Amino acid sequence: MEYKKTKEVLNQMVADLSQMSMVIHQTHWYMRGPGFLNLHPLMDTYMAEIDGQLDEVSERLITLDGAPYSTLKEMTDNTKIKDKKGNYELTIEEHLENLVENYRYLADLYQKGIDIAGEEEDSVSEDLCVGFKTAIEKRIWMVQAQLGKAPEIDK
Ligand SMILES: [Fe+2]
Repeated sequence: MEYKKTKEVLNQMVADLSQMSMVIHQTHWYMRGPGFLNLHPLMDTYMAEIDGQLDEVSERLITLDGAPYSTLKEMTDNTKIKDKKGNYELTIEEHLENLVENYRYLADLYQKGIDIAGEEEDSVSEDLCVGFKTAIEKRIWMVQAQLGKAPEIDK
């Protein structure tokens, strides 16, 4: 069995997780307002989680004889997560809404990974994507709760 499409979607994750790490770093740096003292350090935890997923996905790709993107240019050329310039004017809520939007994109991408790895019978990558989708959906719940909203995973 060839894992061609699985490897493509894993590399898409490499680019998007790299960009997501930067987005969370931007949130960590640019947030101003009530809740800062709690949310600023929380962003370190969120970043560490995404960086951990990035490393796992990349190493799975290498294990499948693939080649993960490994330059900033490759990440920016391939990510589908939007680039927004840092802005101190945004409210904490707007920063968090931006995070949720990107987390939703990642949850959908992991679902794509589950489907494709399933089709190509790569249960290991499928399992990896299931675990990471679970973690991302939990983040969506938590950030939405902070915003006073339901998770809206099952819309
Ligand atoms: Fe910091």
